[in-house]
Amino acid sequence: MTQPQRILVLHGPNLQLLGKRQPEIYGSTTLADIDDELRARADRAGIELEIHQSNSEGQLVTLIGERLGSVDGVLINPAAYTHTSVAIADALAALAVPVIEIHLSNVAARETFRHHSFVAPIATGTIAGFGLDSYTLALDAMARILSQDTDC
Ligand code: DQA
Repeated sequence: MTQPQRILVLHGPNLQLLGKRQPEIYGSTTLADIDDELRARADRAGIELEIHQSNSEGQLVTLIGERLGSVDGVLINPAAYTHTSVAIADALAALAVPVIEIHLSNVAARETFRHHSFVAPIATGTIAGFGLDSYTLALDAMARILSQDTDC
């Protein structure tokens, strides 16, 4: 029997405040809503999800490093660390598995400091601007990437 795909989902700083945080930008969806939706979809697809939120760059870097060799792909909304963290980008690159960068908001249409991402160059792709759907689209995309891998 083939092993289920294992996908690590990481939410960066301040995302625990979703639903209350700047709803005009991030909407009313909470982090629990996002996680519940991802878990329901992953269950239906037979995918294993491990989900974490952290406000700490160091914790995210440590967690990513600890999953070397034990995850097949990463979905990450690095939040503000997108624009500042070489350490998170390096940790993700070390995993050598597909990474999809996610943003709820359309970062390209916001302040210029949000236009640069340290994670984008090591990611397979970025999905931004669709709120909760950015996450579900990313999960679909990752499932497709991983099923192509196993078909080869
Ligand atoms: C965000 C965009 C980032 O610029 C910001 O710092 C966040 C959330 C998004 O999901 O739209 O915290 O990653």
